[in-house]
Amino acid sequence: MASFGQDADADVPASKSCFSSVLPSGPETWAVVSNKRPVAQADYSIIAMRCHGCVAPVGHIGGVCTDPAFRGRGLAGQLLQVGFRRLRKAGARWVLVSGDRGLYRRSGLIPAGVFTAFKLTKANTGPPDPRVRLTPAEPKHAPWCARWHESEPVHYLRSRELYDGAFSGGPTGFRAERFVVLANGRPAAYFLLALPWEQVDHPRPTGRILFEYGGSRLALRAAFASLLRKPGIRTLRVVLPHQDLDLIQLLRQTGTRSSVAYLPDHTHRLLDLPGLLKDLRPTLCSRLPPALLQSFRCRQTSDGVVTLSCGPDRLSVDMEKATALVLGSETTGPAVARSAPGSLREICEALFPLPAVLAGLNYS
Ligand SMILES: CC(C)(COP(=O)(O)OP(=O)(O)OC[C@H]1O[C@@H](n2cnc3c(N)ncnc32)[C@H](O)[C@@H]1OP(=O)(O)O)[C@@H](O)C(=O)NCCC(=O)NCCS
Repeated sequence: MASFGQDADADVPASKSCFSSVLPSGPETWAVVSNKRPVAQADYSIIAMRCHGCVAPVGHIGGVCTDPAFRGRGLAGQLLQVGFRRLRKAGARWVLVSGDRGLYRRSGLIPAGVFTAFKLTKANTGPPDPRVRLTPAEPKHAPWCARWHESEPVHYLRSRELYDGAFSGGPTGFRAERFVVLANGRPAAYFLLALPWEQVDHPRPTGRILFEYGGSRLALRAAFASLLRKPGIRTLRVVLPHQDLDLIQLLRQTGTRSSVAYLPDHTHRLLDLPGLLKDLRPTLCSRLPPALLQSFRCRQTSDGVVTLSCGPDRLSVDMEKATALVLGSETTGPAVARSAPGSLREICEALFPLPAVLAGLNYS
């Protein structure tokens, strides 16, 4: 019979830092064990996100896997529920999960965020700019890239060592080339590429996905045009957080069509909305007149019902709808905002969706 193991099964061997319990200071892996052997496991971690100067802890769940002989018994689903509880207890305001499949959707997760997607080709990027050059990102570029990342209005807080590790050695798995963009010979931006899943095992993959970026938007646009002139690269899928209006506008200027998208291969859900709103209060202050913000209240019950109110106006929704409203979803989010009565609708439309962020190097 399988059971969740931490104390009782601490002697069970596992592939990672199994059964550690110091979540805020490092990732932990939880496993379901059967006959003292892990048969399903998942990794949990918390990473702080900075949003316009405010900081909110975000939970991450990745590496979900179940031994083929134990699949279809609900073990991965239980590991997700354990993760939600542990991450919330440790202070995470919402959780981002690497993966988008039925298992996750049934656990109350929805496709992550609101993004604007472009499919760039040589034909729709305009001519390359001779002043802009691409050079492979190396460990010596780590401080530059960290600085560009840190100056993004919304970003994960990370150690610089993450870049050193990511820039040394050749790309592996789904990760592809990483470039620093030189404009007039000076570093101006960086971007990291991934392979589309369906091309990962292809001997000569022709597609790329923008995995992470930072720095000058003008330099980036020119860099994408140069990239698409490199032999063997035909398409670049660019998925931009909805609030990056500069880059979105620059790419639209070349006549490229865009579509609304989610963070590829990720799902998410809120864990603690009152806590999140408290963390982001200075940001919220800049978006709402003080009188409205003062009377705005948020409560969440232990079974995940969220009630937003402003004076007599009140809206109660389940966690999935609250996630769509606050963290963004193409259709459900605006529909939930529209269903709010009176001035609560005005508040919801002014505050949400919150800015989105690419997982990039934090993708586990
Ligand atoms: C995905 C995975 C973790 C699910 O684990 P699990 O313990 O079987 O999951 P649960 O029983 O809690 O959830 C039901 C899942 O099992 C599948 N399932 C149901 N009955 C099954 C059976 N008899 N045999 C195998 N799978 C079955 C369902 O398809 C469902 O997954 P889906 O709807 O997302 O496709 C497991 O299949 C796995 O390890 N796959 C390989 C690694 C992987 O893809 N990880 C996810 C990365 S995003």
